[in-house]
This record gives sequence, structure tokens and C-alpha cells, in this order.
Amino acid sequence: MLLLIQGGRVVDPARSIDADLDILIENGKIAWLGQHLEAEDAQMVDASGLVVAPGLVDMHVHLREPGFEAKETVATGCAAAARGGVTTLVAMPNTRPATDCPEIVKLVQSKAAPTGVNVLPAGAVTVGQRGQVLTDFDSLRAAGVPALTDDGVPIQNQALLRQAMLRAKERNLPLLDHCEDRDMVQNYALNEGKASQTLGLPGRPAIAEELQIMRDVMLAEETGAHVHICHISTAKGVEIVRQAKVRGVRVTCETCPQYFTLTEEEVLCQGALARVNPPLRTQADVDAIRAGLADGTIDAIVTDHAPHTAEEKARPLPDAPSGMVGLETSLALALTELYHTGLLPMSRVLALMTSSPAALLGLNKGTLGEGCDADLVLFDPNQEWTIDKNQFASKGRNTPFHGRTVRGRVKYTISRGIIIYQEG
Ligand code: DOR
Ligand code: ZN
Repeated sequence: MLLLIQGGRVVDPARSIDADLDILIENGKIAWLGQHLEAEDAQMVDASGLVVAPGLVDMHVHLREPGFEAKETVATGCAAAARGGVTTLVAMPNTRPATDCPEIVKLVQSKAAPTGVNVLPAGAVTVGQRGQVLTDFDSLRAAGVPALTDDGVPIQNQALLRQAMLRAKERNLPLLDHCEDRDMVQNYALNEGKASQTLGLPGRPAIAEELQIMRDVMLAEETGAHVHICHISTAKGVEIVRQAKVRGVRVTCETCPQYFTLTEEEVLCQGALARVNPPLRTQADVDAIRAGLADGTIDAIVTDHAPHTAEEKARPLPDAPSGMVGLETSLALALTELYHTGLLPMSRVLALMTSSPAALLGLNKGTLGEGCDADLVLFDPNQEWTIDKNQFASKGRNTPFHGRTVRGRVKYTISRGIIIYQEG
């Protein structure tokens, strides 16, 4: 099985390659990068005008199965991933039952296998994500989890969290933490600030996130564990991580397109569609997230793809669930907001979505090195298109970006040498 990708601009941030090259794929692996390659009997892909990059690695996705199949299934979530150029994803454990034992890890893996997308279920930190008893990290690790997290129902008990870090460190697993103090945020629907005042609703203050980021940084420093802060959304949060990195603390962090694109005001026009945890913040926070992406404080761009049903999102703002889908829009939003604005070069945007998350999870993914799995995304970096939720492969249509015109369109997604998505 030979596949020849001809005439594209190959961008492989891990190896500082940005050049017009052809790529030969043999038996699912990258076999050769070079100029004017030829291969008899190879299937050809014409990549002229396209960027050829490693398949995206999205380390924060909610696939919802088992338990919430009305929102999404592994199959529909993976179809959305393929449409978005994502070839490897980490699936969050807040399913029902939670991914807290090898059986559920294996169930998710088996549902994902036929999709062609490389799905890595994250293991829950506590049994049932109830925040009381730690799961069996050894058996979860043996089942193949790349990381541990209670995202969706984050741990509040600091003694337990410290214990989890010590155990995770021994097993060389990163701990991914959703940072928000539950007593401060309750089940509130939006940021505490201008919009919450306008609506007369209680809000989730930025300090609720920042306190827990500070706590996690201090625990990481003390335990030596690798702590990864999920979906960072505030200016001070970014600054705390920046300073911790200078001190040599093993802390990394991620953000999502919504946090470098939208502000709390979005809730005023879009209601529950703009409801997400942590909430959309202020313009100063958006600017600080962009600065954190530019100076390397932020390690990864993820989606926090969180599908919900139309019925759930149609509820009044205080009763609707939090979260937005993102798999089918993340690359275009990142290119539009970060690359086409001149803030980041192409290679840096792609590093944040490929090699950098792969490296922090210890995955042999996110690069086009010879011998690596042939996971690729081919996209037109300049093509304008309008986001249309009705075209999504995801069951979730809950995006605040419907109707937005963006630049950058996925044309092909290839996983282990097989075309798993082709436009049109
Ligand atoms: O907005 C969110 N939605 N934040 C989370 O942490 C969980 C997620 C979900 O599962 O819907
Ligand atoms: Zn979260």
C-alpha cells in the first residue's frame, strides 16, 4: 500500500521543516520526504496549494460514550475529529460509567478502532469521579491511558489531589486538572463581570480558576508531579504558569479557540451557546491568552469539544449545560485568529496543535519523521468559508461560531496511511 502526496508545502514543526516536498507513505508509515518523488502503483494525492502537516493532536475531547449517546458517540465524535483534521485525541472520562477502570478504557478503545482516529481515553483520578477514592493507576496505565484527570467533576480535596500527584508521578503519568473552586462557581452560568451584572445573575469569578492554578503549581513544585492545567482562560492564570515555568516547575497548560476569540459579552447575544466552563472572560484575558500562546507559556491548543443536545442548550441560561463543540472548527479558528493576524507563524500554530501536546503526553505522534505513523492533515490555509453547524459530523451543534467566516479549510485527513476524510 503506497500513497504519494505531491506538491504540497510540508510543515513539520518538530523537525523545523517548512518546505515544498512530496511524501511517500508505505504500509501506514512515513517512508520518504523529498523532491519530485515518484512511485509506481501509488495512490496519488495532489497537494498543490495545500499545507501538509502532522495530523492534529487534540488532548481534550468529550466523546460522551458510554452513557450520553444522545449528545455524541465515539463514532460521531471521531467523524467530527476526522473532518477537523484531528487524528489523535484524548477522550475525557466524564462518561457514565466514568472511565475509572480498564474495562471502560477498553470499551472506548474498541468503539474507536473502526473509525481510524487514534483515541486515547484518559483515566479518571477518583472512582466514579466522586472525588473520594483514588482509582487504580497501575491498571489504568496498563490499559493504555496517557494521562489522568477528573475533568468535568474536578477534585476539590487537596489532600487527595496531592496523593494523586504523588502516585501519578511514580507512574510517569501527567495529571490534567480543570481548575475552578466549586464553592465559588457553584453552577453559575457565566463569568462574574459586566455580562453577569447586566443579566443580574451570579457569576464565576476569575479568582476561582486562579486560586486552583496557584494551588496546582505549588503542589506540582512540592511533589515533582507533572501537572497540566486544562483550558486556561484568565490573564493571571497565564502569569502564574509563566512564573512557575521560570522556576522549573513541571507545569504545562492548554487553551481553546473560544478563549482567544470570544469574551463574556458573547453570552448576551448567544445565551447558552456561549456557556462554557471555565466561562468566557474579558478582552484583557483574551489578549493575555494570545500573549501566552505567543511566548510559549501555553503549550497546546485543544477544543474541549463538549457536545450537548439542542434541547439541553435551548433551556434558559441558568439551566443549560456548559460546553461547546470544537473539533470541526479548531484549525480554522486558530489559523484565522493567530496566523492570519500575524501573531504566530504557521509552524508555531501547528506545533501547538501537534508536536507540543504529543510531546507533553509522551506520544510518538505529531511529526512527519520517516518511520512514524502516517497521520496527516492537508489543508488550504487561505480558503475562506463560513462555519455552518448543520454541516457538522458531530451530533453536537452547540457552537457559538455558527455563521462566522474563517480562513483555512481541511481537505484531507490521513490516519496511518488511510484517508479517513476527504472534502466533498
Ligand atoms: O464546559 C464544560 N463542559 N467544561 C467542562 O469541564 C466539562 C464539559 C462537559 O463535559 O460538558
Ligand atoms: Zn474542564
